[in-house]
Amino acid sequence: MGELKGYLAARREMVDKALEAMLPGDESGGQVLAAMRYSIFAGGKRLRPILCLAGAEAVGGRAEDAMYCACALEMIHSYSLIHDDLPAMDDDDFRRGVPTNHKVFGEGMALLAGDGLLTQAMVLLTDPAWTQGVEPWRALMAAQMIMRAAGWEGMVGGQAADLLAEGRQPDLTQVQFIHAKKTGALIAASVASGGLLAGGGEEQVHALTRYGRRIGLAFQIADDILNLTGDPALMGKAAGSDEARGKMTYPAAVGPAQARQAGERLVAEAADLAEGLGPAAWPLKDLALYIMQRTH
Ligand code: IPE
Ligand code: IPE
Ligand code: MG
Ligand code: MG
Repeated sequence: MGELKGYLAARREMVDKALEAMLPGDESGGQVLAAMRYSIFAGGKRLRPILCLAGAEAVGGRAEDAMYCACALEMIHSYSLIHDDLPAMDDDDFRRGVPTNHKVFGEGMALLAGDGLLTQAMVLLTDPAWTQGVEPWRALMAAQMIMRAAGWEGMVGGQAADLLAEGRQPDLTQVQFIHAKKTGALIAASVASGGLLAGGGEEQVHALTRYGRRIGLAFQIADDILNLTGDPALMGKAAGSDEARGKMTYPAAVGPAQARQAGERLVAEAADLAEGLGPAAWPLKDLALYIMQRTH
């Protein structure tokens, strides 16, 4: 695990630097750009961009080729968090250890900051300057893969199902559907797009997708468990809120012990898939095993 910590720290620093270059401060951007930057640079584990870079490395490619895509993924993720925290959705006051976007900038500006980040991701994914060095069909396919994962077939669809399920009798099939879409889809697209951009073959990209779906679902199970038992100071966001809002979570459906077991099974399968990709996929393998152990 020591090696994984160093890997994550180094990649996180690379991502933060690249984000600064891809979303620089600019006075002409006014309040909306300030709000976009507030949430992006509030912190965050940078899991999705790191997975994208690790996906590139796992197929023997260069992380640099996937960096623009990694940054686009973090922008989409951060937008989803800003909107997720709004009073009309989960109504949360803290995120990434600081007050939520709407608490600082107001609801209208928070909506627009989210819109701005999503749109900026599209700008990056289609920018000839950033996609230079990548075969055009790969860049196009990666952009398509990410937008699909972010939209109604993926994250947006999952968030809609999450809202509609509030207060309803928990059901395992339904919670698997919600979690696979609201969290699993973008995580799978993160790791697969990295592999695709860096020259991965069809089978490699498919294995990365299967890996990503498993860790994505496990990641949300861990998030549900942390919401029950985690330390808000470590997490940088509230605990206990899922129960208060009647959220349909994995532990609500099957109990915390079985939820943990399901997560452990998923990450073990994911680790096997990473193992099958060869030695360059070691960070993916170790990362899978870390997902259920995390405290934030
Ligand atoms: C939080 O995601 C929302 C979920 C999908 C569980 P992260 O746990 O990756 O949040 P950050 O990016 O580190 O803040
Ligand atoms: C967030 O899910 C998923 C997305 C934002 C797509 P949650 O609502 O369960 O995550 P937290 O607990 O607020 O981070
Ligand atoms: Mg939510
Ligand atoms: Mg939430």
